[in-house]
Amino acid sequence: MKFYIGADLGTSALKLLLVNENNKIVHTVTKAYDVAYPHPGWSEQRPEDWWQAFVDGVTELTKDFDKENIQSITVAGQMHGLVILDKEDAVIRPAILWNDGRTEAETAYLNDVIGKQKLSVLTANIAFAGFTAPKLLWLKKHEPEHFNAIQKVMLPKDYINYRLTGVHACDYSDASGMLLLDVKNKCWSKEMLTICSLQEWQMPHLFESYEAIGTILPNAAETLGLNKNIVIAAGAGDNAAAAIGTATIGEGKCNISLGTSGTIFIPSKTCTIDKYNALHAFCHADGAYHLMGCILSAASCNKWFCDEVLNTKDYIAEQEKITENMLGMSNIFFLPYLMGERSPINDTDATGLFIGLRPDTTRTDMLLSVLEGVAFAVRDNLEIAIKSGITIKQSTVCGGGAKSKLWLTILSNVLNLELLVPAFEEGPGYGAAILGMVACKDRKLDDFKEIEMKEIIKPDPQLVQKYEEKYGKYKSIYPAVKDLYKTLNTKI
Ligand code: XUL
Repeated sequence: MKFYIGADLGTSALKLLLVNENNKIVHTVTKAYDVAYPHPGWSEQRPEDWWQAFVDGVTELTKDFDKENIQSITVAGQMHGLVILDKEDAVIRPAILWNDGRTEAETAYLNDVIGKQKLSVLTANIAFAGFTAPKLLWLKKHEPEHFNAIQKVMLPKDYINYRLTGVHACDYSDASGMLLLDVKNKCWSKEMLTICSLQEWQMPHLFESYEAIGTILPNAAETLGLNKNIVIAAGAGDNAAAAIGTATIGEGKCNISLGTSGTIFIPSKTCTIDKYNALHAFCHADGAYHLMGCILSAASCNKWFCDEVLNTKDYIAEQEKITENMLGMSNIFFLPYLMGERSPINDTDATGLFIGLRPDTTRTDMLLSVLEGVAFAVRDNLEIAIKSGITIKQSTVCGGGAKSKLWLTILSNVLNLELLVPAFEEGPGYGAAILGMVACKDRKLDDFKEIEMKEIIKPDPQLVQKYEEKYGKYKSIYPAVKDLYKTLNTKI
């Protein structure tokens, strides 16, 4: 029996899967790590911690399996993070992550001085604070000694791939989020590199996600206790990999992820730029393209509220106190902008906010408003897609938040969409394993256009109506506090 390793280098943890040749997940291992918040609105991780988690995790994952039969390792990863290496191949500074909001000035420079129109022509996208190009501009200004030492620019998962193969590689889906790729033509934009004072030799070689970038280096194989012929596929950004893992391939489909971030992923055959400048136009891991909206805090809002406010780790017990008759009934609202917000508002000053608290408000009422607030923020992105003429009737779901039936019920009714829950919830890791099978030429992507579903959650017209009204009120909150956020300046 052949086996394939799929990895999801997430923000809260590395999730590893061993998938057999019958597409079944036979073993999983999760290795958690911390995020550092060195300043309000900033977020960083150490690439060496990712590698250590990878070594420990793969060793544990494979210990009871015949290592000779492992064919490939494929990594899906948190997108946009800036990883830089010097001429000794040493990591220069901690990675600046996808939800880091330090680049307000650089993002404004790119959007307002270089101009959104020009950025769209060059990259099919405008600048968002978490994208990699504004981070490079920030580094040049604030840490010039680090910027000048850069030999290699890479994204988080590509650091693992580099340690595995010695090949400085990136796939098109992940590269799209750097704002340095000409997404439509799938090559680095020379003009964007010049704007960021970079040379093409500092950038990774580009691959399709399902292509092999090489085989494992002997020393990496030894460290991991694996054999030497293992294929390393290019892999993908976590959302594109999740789309592969949930059969969101081709057209007319949608996948929603409730992980640390929340995303809505709409594949398309062609590269379509969002005229509202809210959704990202990126390459897909299937060789085509997609549109994506990303909210920076989704399952992380639930985690924050339970861990930090309620002081509990028993998320299920807290949610069990929310009864069905409570849904859509309360007048408590929560804006889920714990790390500022990406799509559609692109505002690094925004913060989390409760409105509607009264003396009789309970922890359960507040938790419900947190779950609803995240669903409303996802809806803000769906609205843009609908305004652009895209019809979505159903969506698959994945990510830690999708394990909660209650949250999916709220989401389905807020979005008025049927939600399909796949038999395997491990979207990005499973998608990564599939990309590895294709890289080994054992399977074709077309074999994965349909996958087994565990459950379908259908919206209930009465609840949809209640949430329609509540969403109408929710929508009015951010415009009312937008300027206040700026004057409060909570980033100091
Ligand atoms: C997508 C994005 C997030 C991260 C999370 O643009 O920034 O979904 O990839 O891992």
